[in-house]
Amino acid sequence: MTKKIKVALVGVGNCASSIVQGVEYYKDIDGNDPLIPGLMHNVISGYKIAHIKFVAAFDVDSKKVGKDLSEAVFSQPNCTQKFSNVPKQDVEVKKGPVLDGVAETTREKFTVDVKQKPVDVASHLKETKPDILISYLPVGSEEATRHYARECLEVGVAFINAIPVFIASDPGWAKKFEEKKLPIVGDDIKSQVGATIVHRALTRLFVDRGVKLDHTYQLNVGGNTDFLNMLERQRLSKTQSVQSQLPTQLPEHDIHIGPSDYVPWLKDKKLAFIRLQGRKFGDVPLNVELRLDVEDSPNSAGVMVDAVRCAKIALDRGIGGPLLSASSYFMKSPPIQYQDSVARDMVDEYIKGERER
Ligand SMILES: NC(=O)c1ccc[n+]([C@@H]2O[C@H](COP(=O)([O-])OP(=O)(O)OC[C@H]3O[C@@H](n4cnc5c(N)ncnc54)[C@H](O)[C@@H]3O)[C@@H](O)[C@H]2O)c1
Repeated sequence: MTKKIKVALVGVGNCASSIVQGVEYYKDIDGNDPLIPGLMHNVISGYKIAHIKFVAAFDVDSKKVGKDLSEAVFSQPNCTQKFSNVPKQDVEVKKGPVLDGVAETTREKFTVDVKQKPVDVASHLKETKPDILISYLPVGSEEATRHYARECLEVGVAFINAIPVFIASDPGWAKKFEEKKLPIVGDDIKSQVGATIVHRALTRLFVDRGVKLDHTYQLNVGGNTDFLNMLERQRLSKTQSVQSQLPTQLPEHDIHIGPSDYVPWLKDKKLAFIRLQGRKFGDVPLNVELRLDVEDSPNSAGVMVDAVRCAKIALDRGIGGPLLSASSYFMKSPPIQYQDSVARDMVDEYIKGERER
């Protein structure tokens, strides 16, 4: 039987656009090809990128609802780089319940037709039978995330939570997924090389080389709707991700990490300004100043392709609940934080079947 990983997307924004384009862009890749930038392995437990099939998609924006996924991924206000054509997917984007998905700041960008009725998510999942649902909702969509998580539990769909709302790292939710034998990977996807991982690595370097870190900040600017949305709803999980690399946590006033401004003309480009101020031998100052310049959304798409395949092998192996290795390696707020190099080894062991989760 041909292998297939059936995926439902929630939020057909820039990140969804990058992963849908990526699946098409790399559709002919197999184990004999050189490794794809952004992936751990071209083939994971027999699964290639081409095995990913999108079977359902939910959004609330009338510029996307009712369109085929191939068209919706390039609809406004999406503004990420187009690196691949996408053929018709035969997946119509359905209107999901809005709940708290649309913030005050994004109300003009995400146009919601209040007269259009949302679908019943569970019924649509039953019809389309995805293995895995990926939530790419806007930051701050607490209620909406819980709604989709509940529907996954009801229908029997694995869950990948790309956003900083705590589901995998919440023991109550984790237990529910474990009881239903449904894998969950979360929370808040890491980028391939993004501000968080660079900041974490530099923090770790300071610790490993015995430099005392006194103060640090990370300021981010970008022009996509994720940044616009975060003007209103700041994210906390990035701070924890950097703090976790320190033997003793920095006091709150000595660490500032956050999305700092929305600059529309930057579109999906994200600029991060990172500074670490520390002391070396003799209390002599040692400072690092760094500027990172990346296209935001494709930066996490490869990480998601690996997360999807890890979730699928858990389904094949009958393992439910949070995948600790995959969550730690792919996500900023996993149930348990490990150093990135340790987490990578753990994921490799998990893929080989030497570790349960
Ligand atoms: N870019 C990255 O590398 C990265 C990394 C970590 C986390 N994330 C997170 O992933 C999420 C998605 O990012 P993005 O850049 O694609 O955002 P985006 O703003 O481009 O897309 C969000 C989509 O969600 C839709 N939406 C709003 N409410 C909804 C609801 N109730 N049901 C269904 N759809 C709804 C919007 O219409 C929009 O299409 C964000 O929360 C972001 O912070 C992204």
